[in-house]
Amino acid sequence: MTRGSYLPFGGGSRKCIGDVFGMTEATLALAAIAGRWRMRPIPGTKIRPRPQMSLTAGPLRMIPEPR
Ligand code: HEM
Repeated sequence: MTRGSYLPFGGGSRKCIGDVFGMTEATLALAAIAGRWRMRPIPGTKIRPRPQMSLTAGPLRMIPEPR
């Protein structure tokens, strides 16, 4: 990844002070969800990466199935 290409928390002197907390919380939330549910995109969905503040595929509607 190129330096400065991923900026979900901004950068420079006003960069988010909650970045580590935010990434930790997101990782734990993802683990809690993915441990219980299998997520798959609605059939026929084209996944197109969109470069915004960070690289996103959204909005991406998913179907949750219990594991
Ligand atoms: C996923 C979660 C979060 C995202 C995506 C996020 C994103 C951002 C962004 C984009 C900025 C602006 C940076 C700039 O102006 O260059 C910011 C600023 C800030 N964030 Fe977060 N943030 C998150 C979580 C948090 C948390 C958990 C806290 C506090 C516990 C926090 C506290 C702050 C503060 C105080 C600023 C202002 C910093 C300044 O202006 O000096 N953020 N955040």
